[in-house]
Formats: sequence, C-alpha cells, structure tokens
Amino acid sequence: MSTEPDTQTSDALDSELAALLDVERFPPPPEFREQALLKDPAVYEQAARDPLAWWASEAEQLHWFRRWDTVLEDSNPPFYEWFVGGTLNASYNCLDRHVEAGIGGRIALHWRGEDGEERDITYAQLLAEVKRLASALKAQGIAKGDVVGIYLPMIPEVVVSMLACSRIGAPHNVVFGGFSAEAVRERMEFSQAKLLITVDGAARKGKTAPVKDRVDEVMGGLPALEKIVVVRSKGTPCQMQPGRDVYYEEILAEADAECPAEPLDAEHPLYILYTSGSTAKPKGILHTTGGYLTGVCATHRYVFDLKPERDVYWCAADVGWVTGHSYIVYGPLCNAATSVMWEGAPDYPHKGIWWELIERYGVSILYCAPTAIRACIKWGPQWPAKHDLSSLRLLGTVGEPINPKAWLWYHRVIGGERCPIVDTWWQTETGAIMITPLPGITETKPGSATRPLPGVFAEVLEESSGEPITEGQGLLVLTRPWPSMLRTLYKEPERFVETYFERFGPQTYLVGDAARRDRDAYLWVIGRIDDVVNVSGHRLSTAEVESAIVAHPDVAEAAVIGQHDEDTGQAIVAFVTLQGDLEGDEGTIEGIRATVAERIGKFARPKRIIWSEDLPKTRSGKIMRRLLRDIAEGRALGDVTTLRDPAVMEQLQHKISERQAEED
Ligand code: PRX
Repeated sequence: MSTEPDTQTSDALDSELAALLDVERFPPPPEFREQALLKDPAVYEQAARDPLAWWASEAEQLHWFRRWDTVLEDSNPPFYEWFVGGTLNASYNCLDRHVEAGIGGRIALHWRGEDGEERDITYAQLLAEVKRLASALKAQGIAKGDVVGIYLPMIPEVVVSMLACSRIGAPHNVVFGGFSAEAVRERMEFSQAKLLITVDGAARKGKTAPVKDRVDEVMGGLPALEKIVVVRSKGTPCQMQPGRDVYYEEILAEADAECPAEPLDAEHPLYILYTSGSTAKPKGILHTTGGYLTGVCATHRYVFDLKPERDVYWCAADVGWVTGHSYIVYGPLCNAATSVMWEGAPDYPHKGIWWELIERYGVSILYCAPTAIRACIKWGPQWPAKHDLSSLRLLGTVGEPINPKAWLWYHRVIGGERCPIVDTWWQTETGAIMITPLPGITETKPGSATRPLPGVFAEVLEESSGEPITEGQGLLVLTRPWPSMLRTLYKEPERFVETYFERFGPQTYLVGDAARRDRDAYLWVIGRIDDVVNVSGHRLSTAEVESAIVAHPDVAEAAVIGQHDEDTGQAIVAFVTLQGDLEGDEGTIEGIRATVAERIGKFARPKRIIWSEDLPKTRSGKIMRRLLRDIAEGRALGDVTTLRDPAVMEQLQHKISERQAEED
C-alpha cells in the first residue's frame, strides 16, 4: 500500500493548496461559543490525561440495568471489550427513558413523504409501535441473537424495525434501499438472517418501484431465512408466500402491546452492517451495544452542540448507511432530539425541497454529504434564496473530503456566515465521528476535519518506518481503542485482524485513508489507499464492481478505478476486455451497466466504459490499477518497467484521449 491515494482528487488538491496558503480560519462565532455545550479547550487535555474516565463519564449518561465492572478489557488486542459486566438496552435508552422522564409527547420524527405526506411521531408513539413490533418478531420465532435483515426505504418503519430488533437483542442487518435484491440476498446469506423486513414498493422521484417482488426473485434457497415481513407502504401489489410471508400491519395488530426491553450485555451485538473492502466480498462490520451507544450519544451531543429541547436536527443521509444508523437513529433518539426524516431525493419534487423543509420544520442543525452541497451549487443559489433559513445554527458534512469552495458556499449561502461547520471524518468501522471540530471551541480551516475528538487518538504515520509524522503526508491511524469501534468482521475474525491490525500491530488501527498533518496538527484526509472508491459518499470496492462486470456474458476481463469527478467526488471507470473478437457498442455498454445495477445497485454503474484489448499486467498477471489511474487522471505514467507488455499502455492512452475528445 502506498500513501498515494487511489485518486488524487482535485478536491484534495484544493484542500492542499488551501492549507499551503494557510487559508482563512474560522473561529467559532462568539454568540455560538457563548451558548455551546463545550467551550473550554481544556476538555481535550482532560480527556487525553484519562481517556477511560472520559468515556466512562459519557457512558454514565446512558441508562444501565447493571453498571459495568471494567471500562476497557484490553488483554486480548485487537479484540477489545468495553463496559464489561454492564447490561443495558439500546431501545430502552432511545425511547422508554424519555417517556419515563415525562417527555413522551416530544416529536421524535417529523417524517415527510415524497408526495408531501407528513407524519409527526412522538417518543411515546414510537415506543408503542416498537414494543408491538418487538412482540410480533418474537411471535414470529425471533429470539435474542437471531439476525434480522432490514431492506426498507426512508419510511418511519425502518426506525421502528431497528429499535424493535435492539429491544429483543436480535442484531439487525440493514441493507441500503439503493442496493439491488441480489446484494440483499448476499448479505442475508453471509449473516444467516432468519427474518427479513421489507416493503411492497418504494417511491423514487414520483415513481413507485416494486421491492418485494424483486426480493422474491432472488431470495429462494436460503435455509436460514424463515420469514419475510412486508410493510404495505405504497400499495404495490405483491405475491405473498403462505407460511413464509406476513404483512407488518397484520402481525402488529395481533401483537402484545407490551414487550419489556431485554437487559443485554454491553458487548451484545447490536448490528451488522456490510461495507466494502479491498476484495469483492463485503465486510460485515459488527457493532455491540454499550460502547457503540456511548460513542454515538456523546458525539451526537457534542459535535452538533445539541439542545434537545429546542433544536430541530436533520441528517439528510439514508438510514441504510452507517451515518443513518448512528446519526438518524441511535444518536439523536438516545439524546431525545427532534429530527426531520425525508423520504425522497434532494431534487424532487423540485431542487429547493431541502430548503423548503428547513423552513417548514425550523431545522437548526443540518448534516449532509459534500456531494449534495456540490449539486446545490450547480443548481444555483436561487433555490435556497426562496426560503427562510434563519433557523439554522450549525452545519455538518460527512462521507468525503469537502473542497474549500463547497465549504465556503455552504458557509455563506446556507449558513448565512453565522453557522459553524463541522466536517466530520469517520467510517462504518469507527461507528461514531472521530475527527472533527468541536463547534464552540475549534477554529476551522475549510477542507480540514481539524483534530480528533476528546478521547480519540489519531496519528499520521510514515508508510515505511511507521514513525509518526508531525508535518506531512502519510497513513492515518487510530492509536487507542475507542468505545464505538467495530469488534470484529462478522464470522471473519482473521480478516478483521489482517485488514486493520496486521500492518502496525494490534494497538494501531489502520484506517485505510491517506492524510496530511499540517503545522497546527490539523488533519486533512485525502482519500483511500486501498481499492475502495467513494461515489457520492457511497463506499464501493473496485473488486466488487469488477466481479459484477465480468458476470456479463460478453466480458472476459475488467479493471475498475475511481476517477475524480466534479459532481460525485469520484466516478467509476471500467476498462473492459471482451471475449474473443467481440466488438463493444452502445448495446454492450448498456448491458454491462444493467448487470452492475442488478448485482450491486444503480449507484455502482460505471460512468465510463473503455474497451481495451488487454490490461496492463505485471509478469505475474496482476493488473496494475495504479497505471490505469494515472492515465485516467492524465498524470505522467509511473514505472512501467514491470509490465508484461508496455505497449498496452500506449493503446490505452490513445483510447482515453479519443474518448475525451468525444466527450468534449
Ligand atoms: O475515506 C474516508 C471517507 O469515507 C470513508 C468511510 O466510508 P464509510 O465507511 O462508508 O463511512 C462514511 C460515513 C461515515 C473514510 O475512510 N470519509 C468519511 N468522512 C470523511 C471522509 N473523507 C474525508 N473527510 C471526511 N469528513
């Protein structure tokens, strides 16, 4: 692995340039600092002096049925355990305790459907529905420890389903609604899910796509999967298989209204979430209960400076990604926040819908991805200008580096120059935000996620020596365990050790990103060092896309890279060799894109397909993606001497310039 990331994006170059020029700095506005939850920089030192005491005091904010005996069990690194001996329940923490504290009438979710339907759901109502579904799941044969799959769009039932699972100790395995049914099947198979909760159909920009019928086409032959629960959302007709399929509404109507929250061990698995790694097989990230909840609850409160009694918070991610798990479901609900949940896309029914919703619900905190901000820049300031955005007081970003230009636009046009911006760096694996400003304390520099949160320890290491770098670029690592860290890769403990802890040992978590540390010790995350690409904040492995492409009958071989893209951060480019003498045409391109959509999901379709008679390979037959990236980005070619046939590169370069001329 080299510290040279997959794609030296121009966003990253932008950030680097900004840093070199020692950019404009943005201290917290005095009015914001005044009222902030954390305003004394001493918290950093306090947490650094005794990180276990810091995290233990955050764990105290939760409700425990039994207090822990040991904060951190570290005798078998990297298999760490947190709050050992304690018992708690995530759904109890997110719901019951708020209702018991007399705030059951507070709105948990302002849900808004694509067609303008609105559902305001209070904590008491959410608790009642979660209890019913939890009872119903038990009646369907689900017991503590059974894995439940969830494949739902952005409707309130997805939140209810996750919390019902956590109430009875059934780890959930949520699959993002943009994944194809094939991808769901694979994830159900790997996790041996016993039950799947899905939907009749899902809305997308004014159309309804059938979901249950697509699931049926691929879900046969899974011995562990006994039941499919179907939410009737859009009234899309679907086939129900007797004995296996049941309607959500029907099992809820029959269910016991009471279902006490199960006291669970702090290390009881809360969920599995599949994410992409270097190989085609997704990794099942396993999070457990006590540490995860401590991490998301504390970070949600401090990073967003949350005042639950008056803020209206909106995380515009999808619940199917980790951002949704931590900052739509567990963090905000644990903190008794009022959130907005939007079913649809940012440009439907019109390109100003986000700003309309902010005005409508008086949103004070907005958390979204830089890709969305770049899209809004493109659509123009006239859309936000139509709405009163004065309720906003804090803005956040997540998922990819934000280029200073987009940062400044967000700050001026959306934040009216009064809202601090928190650029939050973290991963599915970290469970919670790790590197980010504290909005009442940290001076920000556009494009930098600034510094690790109190209680988090990050360094940039020189790649060959493993020595910490005080100023310069290297590999980002986390040097101490943190409560919300992944515990393992589900059913693949060796892969867990190998992926994250082989390089620098069991105490040092290898993030997989390259980063730069500037003279103020600020961190600038540049991009991945492995074969993972980030398209609109969606994490994909190049190997996963390659194996989908080669499933097309005409394809002999494929190599996929991420190329810088103005809109989506990175875009997928596929170099494809066809079988025998086949010639690729528009039909083949469409066929390949359709195969990828079917195997993974539409969001993984290559933006560009480049036909190549051969691919650059080493003498041992390994494809040199680095060279493909170099030509795609128009950079000088690196070392080609190890290539079996250097002439391949000339042909490819020629093809690329032809293609660029066509596109221009
Ligand atoms: O490369 C980093 C990028 O997204 C990766 C994690 O992806 P995922 O597990 O899907 O989680 C995304 C949402 C937490 C990281 O390894 N990334 C995430 N946030 C940032 C980022 N890159 C730069 N700046 C960020 N703020």
